Amino acid sequence: MLTDASPPLSPAPHRAAPFLQIKRVVKQFDEVYAVDDLSLEIAQGEIFGLLGSSGCGKSTLLRLLAGFELPTSGKILLAGQDIGALAPYERPINMMFQSYALFPHLNVWDNIAFGLRRERLPKADIVARVEQLLELVQLKPYVKRKPHQLSGGQQQRVALARSLAKRPQLLLLDEPLAALDAKLRKKTQLELVDIIEQVGVTCIMVTHDQEEAMTMATRIGVMNEGKLLQIGRPSDIYETPNCRFVADFIGSVNLFEGTLEVDQPDHVLITTPECRHYVSHGITGTLGMALSVAVRPEKMMIQPQPPRDEERESLEQVGFNLVHGVIKDIAYLGNLTTYHVQLDGSITIVRVIHLNDARYEATQLTWGDPVYVWWDGSDVVVLTH
Ligand SMILES: Nc1ncnc2c1ncn2[C@@H]1O[C@H](COP(=O)(O)OP(=O)(O)OP(=O)(O)O)[C@@H](O)[C@H]1O
Ligand SMILES: [Mg+2]
Repeated sequence: MLTDASPPLSPAPHRAAPFLQIKRVVKQFDEVYAVDDLSLEIAQGEIFGLLGSSGCGKSTLLRLLAGFELPTSGKILLAGQDIGALAPYERPINMMFQSYALFPHLNVWDNIAFGLRRERLPKADIVARVEQLLELVQLKPYVKRKPHQLSGGQQQRVALARSLAKRPQLLLLDEPLAALDAKLRKKTQLELVDIIEQVGVTCIMVTHDQEEAMTMATRIGVMNEGKLLQIGRPSDIYETPNCRFVADFIGSVNLFEGTLEVDQPDHVLITTPECRHYVSHGITGTLGMALSVAVRPEKMMIQPQPPRDEERESLEQVGFNLVHGVIKDIAYLGNLTTYHVQLDGSITIVRVIHLNDARYEATQLTWGDPVYVWWDGSDVVVLTH
């Protein structure tokens, strides 16, 4: 935490109240519901990742929080206070835009000091705060440089320092790393989290990139067509997606469409055109209902010969969760290999990820090889919508 943080906007009504409350917010542009009856609560100090495909309403939600747009309906509360009537500059919120929008004619120091000078803070305070931020983002040697004389990662850090200069209580980052190449992005992700945590500011970060959201955020919200479909920790979202969209959007997944055949409290059986599925937990459903079986590629096993009974999770699963096909494609990534297996007599392709944990594998699989693919009933997620 920075030591002399500005006082809170107003005391929270009671301590347990979440820091930010978005209550049934709607934003309509003509016929488009950019944000559609969205509710979300965020705790103080949290780094929340907002994830979704292009046009789903991520930037609009941030703009509503920052006060650049007014909601069609709904309420936004910060520290218990309704901020709906406050102009953007009256909100203790800062938004860092998709492009950093640094002033090209100002050097690093002046870019960071810009907002503080406009507030007419005493000169000594401005110097102290800019120096502190330069330390935080490690840009001391570059103060005299103009933005075009900096690398992408350094520009990103100037923009971050500028966003933090007025000590916002809520920091909104819209695709903060989009301008960086893949390698720099990875490094900067961790630096950014470090800085945000040091300052202790609550943060909402928008990204297209699910890996980035999972690396940086404590919780993630997956958005589609103006709605938040699921909110949870990265591992919850990945291992227990609540619908087909989330399962498919986060990571890679094999989806099989079928019907519920046997419904027991401790297991269910589902038939799809590809195979019979044994799921080692109960579900809420009715016999004959349509559902999807979702299996992550890294949970699947692949081998030229069928699995021996003792290789299965339990004997009840023998003959279930087992398909046969031919390898159509191989993507070798060094640490892992993805096999695309076309199932016999079907257009279905199953993706299997194999971890290359030995330099010389006992069996080398190659294009055109017939293979068996199988998985455990405990690794299956059943989706009903
Ligand atoms: N000022 C506006 N007037 C009319 N429609 C708008 C306006 N701003 C956004 N929209 C529409 O609202 C929807 C959501 O846009 P938004 O910019 O929030 O998407 P996004 O999730 O940030 O997308 P991206 O990932 O591409 O940045 C889109 O259909 C967009 O065309
Ligand atoms: Mg956007």
